[in-house]
Amino acid sequence: MFKKEKRKNWRSVQSPFIFDLARHLEAGSRYVDERVVTDEVAFDRVFRDIEKLRADLKRSKESIAVEDYGAGSRVFKGNARKVSKIAKHVLQGKSVARSLWKVLRYWGINTATEGGRKLNVLEMGTSLGITTAYLSASGCHVETWEGCQNTTDLARRNWKELGLEENIVSKVGKFEGLLKSSSGGWDMVFLDGHHDGEATLIYVEQMKSKLGKGGCVLVDDVTWSKGMKMAWRTLLDDPYWNVTVRWRGKGWLFHIDGAVEQHIALSCVFKF
Ligand SMILES: C[S@@+](CC[C@H](N)C(=O)[O-])C[C@H]1O[C@@H](n2cnc3c(N)ncnc32)[C@H](O)[C@@H]1O
Repeated sequence: MFKKEKRKNWRSVQSPFIFDLARHLEAGSRYVDERVVTDEVAFDRVFRDIEKLRADLKRSKESIAVEDYGAGSRVFKGNARKVSKIAKHVLQGKSVARSLWKVLRYWGINTATEGGRKLNVLEMGTSLGITTAYLSASGCHVETWEGCQNTTDLARRNWKELGLEENIVSKVGKFEGLLKSSSGGWDMVFLDGHHDGEATLIYVEQMKSKLGKGGCVLVDDVTWSKGMKMAWRTLLDDPYWNVTVRWRGKGWLFHIDGAVEQHIALSCVFKF
């Protein structure tokens, strides 16, 4: 018997921790912690630059040869890929990227207040580096992994254009190998590649020993395929992840000492 999730919108969440997560993911800027958006003008400039770059990539005439280590694609055939198609079909959209930025900024500000350190974020699946740019703009230490060298080269070129290349640690290799050699200590891991049910379960299991205290995993595309749906149900049943939140086809996994077990499916309020 699989565990059931309770459907809620961000306003109806009772647990303060999940409410804070939900409002930064889904609510408009007036419901967000005011420290998150203090310098709105500066942040708008950053977002504008990133989105301008995304728009340029969508119009790009360039093609690259990619090595695909993922679960295959419903959009691409063969290894030569148009950059414009990658930009249109593979990356997280602006709305999701901005929500992640808000949550990380909120958690980052709280952590800085308590202990004065930056959050460590790992993105598994760099692609063109657009979401990486948002994660980095949130003020966290960001490391990102990508199997394909040509794709990584393009992502690095993009960060240079945005002036972010100094802030991002980018590694090329298969997730399997990079995970084994990583010393971990992640506050948040965004698993955004290799959307295969079995592989996801293996990565998430290994992640348990790689997360810092209170760290979490965000798994993309948990409703993408039968295998991914099954993997999500298996993760819901794992008592280690005592707090889970499904949001826009992704799943947040938390292991919080002493928390009441809760599994929530957050209703989306589309904005932006
Ligand atoms: C969905 S894209 C990442 C999108 C990116 N996070 C964004 O939103 O801007 C997934 C990427 O993960 C890479 N990938 C998939 N499986 C991998 C694996 N097992 N090891 C290394 N890279 C992998 C793919 O090459 C692809 O570029």
